[in-house]
Amino acid sequence: ALISLRQLLDHAAEHGYGMPAYNANNMEQVHSIMEAAAAVDSPVIIQASAGARKYAGEPFLRHIILAAVEQYPDIPVCLHQDHGAEPAVCFRSIQSGFTSVMMDGSLMPDMKTPATYEYNVDVTRKVSELAHAVGVSVEGELGCLGSLETGMAGEEDGSGAEGVLSHDQLLTDPDEAADFVKKTAVDALAIAIGTSHGAYKFTRPPTGDILAIQRIKEIHARIPDTHLVMHGSSSVPQDWLEIINSFGGDMGQTYGVPVEEIQEGIKHGVRKVNIDTDLRMASTGAIRKFLAENPKEFDPRKFLIASTKAMKGICQARYEAFGCAGMA
Ligand code: G3H
Ligand code: 13P
Ligand code: NA
Ligand code: ZN
Repeated sequence: ALISLRQLLDHAAEHGYGMPAYNANNMEQVHSIMEAAAAVDSPVIIQASAGARKYAGEPFLRHIILAAVEQYPDIPVCLHQDHGAEPAVCFRSIQSGFTSVMMDGSLMPDMKTPATYEYNVDVTRKVSELAHAVGVSVEGELGCLGSLETGMAGEEDGSGAEGVLSHDQLLTDPDEAADFVKKTAVDALAIAIGTSHGAYKFTRPPTGDILAIQRIKEIHARIPDTHLVMHGSSSVPQDWLEIINSFGGDMGQTYGVPVEEIQEGIKHGVRKVNIDTDLRMASTGAIRKFLAENPKEFDPRKFLIASTKAMKGICQARYEAFGCAGMA
């Protein structure tokens, strides 16, 4: 059944687990997310970006996810809209049947220019008022995602603010978070704690304290009833990176957020963990490998099955690591 983000994350908080929120654009990704959830009895968050709606088309995306709900009647599914650039985007998603929307007011509608605090409060409050009236949950974002090392939002395929961000912008302020939640009534809050979108997060193997865990604790202490969200939380699996590059790919050396760091966050109030890049890498690696090893094959189902299986492996590992296995 479709459930709201608030219902799902309240359960997660009560039982001390975190939920991976996987981006999906097509049937194979939805298959992998659902097959993994069914295998370990986990609830599901599927999120769709503006890019996903553009790629699949809104009715296709909606029906693929409704098909998942029909095929797996015992698994609770939250259908979440990722990074809404302005209230109108969120309102369209609510109309389309999403049970949760993210109003990303940390950036202006161009999704590149950092917004003022007042603008963020204003647009997020507007979305909350309408969404809550119809039982839809709201995620807001305070602070700008980016590397504490470089001040950049992301390299190459990353998305987010343009230019170098200040230390203040890169870490969500706990007092501001408390004021923001009071004024906007969001159910979940994405916080900036040193992660960034895309594959190119860290240039060196993370040493153990790459996230501002202390900052997560301080924010959680101020807003204990608001579920914290970590964006840019792919772990950038080194085995898939190697497979991609040994079968014709050319990705640079790069590192992501270690699963153990995410588990540390979950101990301190993180309930939703956004993952897109890891599934992209598993899919690409599996398809490159399959086609290289089976040069006579031309039935797309063959390499798409390899892709689905690879993505399912990542999904299942995260369900288990974040403690949501057995919670459906
Ligand atoms: O936040 C970004 C997500 O990874 C979605 O990416 O906009 O390319 O679909 P996308
Ligand atoms: P990754 O690029 O680390 O997978 O993050 C995805 C994300 O935050 C989507 O909102
Ligand atoms: Na989101
Ligand atoms: Zn994000």
